[in-house]
Amino acid sequence: MATDPATQALAVSDVDAYYGDSHVLHGVSFALEEGHLLGLLGRNGAGKTTCMSSIMGFLKPRHGSIRLFGEEIAGLAPDTIAHRGIGLVPQGRRVFRSLTVQENLSVAEQRRKRADSRPEWNFERVYALFPRLKERQAQLAGSLSGGEQQMLAIGRALMGNPRVLLMDEPSEGLAPQLVAEVGRTIAQLKAEGQSIVLVEQNIKLTLDLADEVVIINTGRVAFNGCADMVKSDHALIAQQLGVF
Ligand SMILES: Nc1ncnc2c1ncn2[C@@H]1O[C@H](COP(=O)(O)OP(=O)(O)OP(=O)(O)O)[C@@H](O)[C@H]1O
Ligand SMILES: [Mg+2]
Repeated sequence: MATDPATQALAVSDVDAYYGDSHVLHGVSFALEEGHLLGLLGRNGAGKTTCMSSIMGFLKPRHGSIRLFGEEIAGLAPDTIAHRGIGLVPQGRRVFRSLTVQENLSVAEQRRKRADSRPEWNFERVYALFPRLKERQAQLAGSLSGGEQQMLAIGRALMGNPRVLLMDEPSEGLAPQLVAEVGRTIAQLKAEGQSIVLVEQNIKLTLDLADEVVIINTGRVAFNGCADMVKSDHALIAQQLGVF
């Protein structure tokens, strides 16, 4: 795995996070290279969402550093972190149910601040990626199906033109056909050069897409390496993720 700090899109170093007195993350470290996809795996309650909340600033780490392209962001307010260029597709989608599809996309709109060879995200591009959202642009988000809400949650995050996209269990609760569709969308984003942290319980989906994999177990990093190493190590998967 490349470790040149100059090319790291996101570097989480030795992060400790708490809910009140409850110590949930213990010295968590991992790094995402620019243009790569890092899969973050772990059982229920392992601390995956807490990692995302710490990166987004919803939960301030008590110790450690989080750098976005070398700039420290740990401890900044969530809206500042979003403006710096981190987008989140939250677990459970969290679309604004009483707003229309178009309004959900509109609230997240943020122009790109720096030169980038990748085309900018806007309504047209999001609707081209998800034609079903275009057909439903005037419909209330709360009336969409689960799969459509997931597309909207992804589209909303893209409207912020993130330098790093965090996706927290985007396949959760979706039928197999829709899981495959979400997988194809993520593969397309990655092919366009988007740097992505993908949190999943779907191991196959993750191993198909990821360059690197981090496995988190009771708030600690239990494995950090390339995806190919995990694919061939069924004992590791059985021990850390409890399947096979
Ligand atoms: N708001 C909170 N207050 C107190 N404890 C919390 C809170 N949110 C999560 N926890 C606890 O922190 C631990 C990590 O939870 P987290 O949601 O990060 O796990 P996760 O890996 O995302 O799990 P899942 O796969 O079920 O989404 C769990 O023990 C959970 O009960
Ligand atoms: Mg979670």
